Amino acid sequence: MHGLNIITASIGMAWGVAGQGVPKPGADGRYTISAPGIRAQFIAYGATLTNLFVNNKNGKEVDVVLGYDDAAYYPKDTSHPTYNSIPGRYANRIGKAQFTIDGKTYRTQKNDGQNTLHSGTNNWSYRFWNVTDVSTDSITFSIVDKEGESTGMTGTVLGNVTYSVAANATWNIKMMATSADVKTPLMLTQHTYFNLDAYKNPSTSQIWDHTLSMPYSRRYLAIDSGALPTGQILTASAGSINDFASAPKPLGHARSTSAFRGNCGSGCEGYNGFWVFDDNTPKDAVILTLASPWSGIKADLRTNQVGVVLYTCAWSDGSANLKKTQGTGSRKKVEKSSCIAIEAQDYIDGINRPAWGRVDAQITGPGEVYLWSSSWTFSQL
Ligand SMILES: *[C@@H]1O[C@H](CO)[C@@H](O)[C@H](O)[C@H]1NC(C)=O
Ligand SMILES: *[C@@H]1O[C@H](CO)[C@@H](O)[C@H](O)[C@H]1NC(C)=O
Ligand SMILES: *[C@@H]1O[C@H](CO)[C@@H](O)[C@H](O)[C@H]1NC(C)=O
Ligand SMILES: *[C@@H]1O[C@H](CO)[C@@H](O)[C@H](O)[C@H]1NC(C)=O
Repeated sequence: MHGLNIITASIGMAWGVAGQGVPKPGADGRYTISAPGIRAQFIAYGATLTNLFVNNKNGKEVDVVLGYDDAAYYPKDTSHPTYNSIPGRYANRIGKAQFTIDGKTYRTQKNDGQNTLHSGTNNWSYRFWNVTDVSTDSITFSIVDKEGESTGMTGTVLGNVTYSVAANATWNIKMMATSADVKTPLMLTQHTYFNLDAYKNPSTSQIWDHTLSMPYSRRYLAIDSGALPTGQILTASAGSINDFASAPKPLGHARSTSAFRGNCGSGCEGYNGFWVFDDNTPKDAVILTLASPWSGIKADLRTNQVGVVLYTCAWSDGSANLKKTQGTGSRKKVEKSSCIAIEAQDYIDGINRPAWGRVDAQITGPGEVYLWSSSWTFSQL
């Protein structure tokens, strides 16, 4: 009985084609892939990463991303943040919930004040994707987003994401998408929330002791009270609140300044913005390093994107549970400012800002292929 299951599973995994049987997750509802120094788990809902295990400075496995223990709970809890999934077809905000292509204006759903966030309430991160390929170190999820399924979006989009792991604790993410029949906004990201201490640092659950380095990102987008870019591109002077370019710094380096509260919009402490990579950033450069002195874990990000969104969880309100792989006996909840979401992507609302020169990059038409890739490499301090 047991043997038979294994044979069936491995045939499904090897062929991994629709019609040959959809690959099944493990008993815990998750798909697991691994390579030396890294183990990652996923569910089809949102093409979500649920667990990511890497080694700390003592060689002990740590689950460094947020999520839930119960795989079946993700779709039930619609109020959860975009936990480690793929927002789409247009990530982050669309200003005033509208965009124009070839002179025609399309109106999207206002689900974030006057703006659209993550394409509205039928966003890709809240849908069940198809699992189209699984092996021991790689998994592919696919989605068909039909015309009319996302309010105001035009045309049908076919998308997929392949997550793989490799030696030296590397996590690779590759997304491809095409538009079947018309030009449509297409701008994706992978939206993972990290706490490199797995909430086990006895002295703090907050993210402010983690250090951040973004050597190619002196520039960032100014935002309004609703976290929508105003159109201005600012340059952070060395030592100022949004400066992580001049040297690696604790995320809380400006915590004692008055700028810290309100830096990410009305009532928002810390960060929720977009940093731009310099035009002359070397290809394949590490554009961001997040590290925790306590766990001794360091995470290096490489990407083909032109910038990155950082969000330090100001809106986490202590209601969500931590996983059993995280926290301490008394610490069981995701408190405010206790995590950081890092989302490599194109300019927020670039579709409505011709001056930035990103409109063409954010619209995909028939015959074109949208490509997004990033990799995270984990090591020990
Ligand atoms: C995504 O869709 C879900 C389900 O409709 C909704 O609860 C959630 O608020 C949406 N996300 C955003 C960012 O609007
Ligand atoms: C999954 O595949 C089935 C069969 O091809 C298709 O009907 C369905 O729309 C797909 N689901 C998604 C989310 O793309
Ligand atoms: C992903 O989608 C692209 C574009 O539609 C397609 O060419 C590619 O074969 C797909 N890859 C996988 C692994 O499904
Ligand atoms: C892993 O890291 C070691 C030490 O930095 C390096 O020598 C080796 O080439 C790396 N292996 C891979 C597969 O990247």
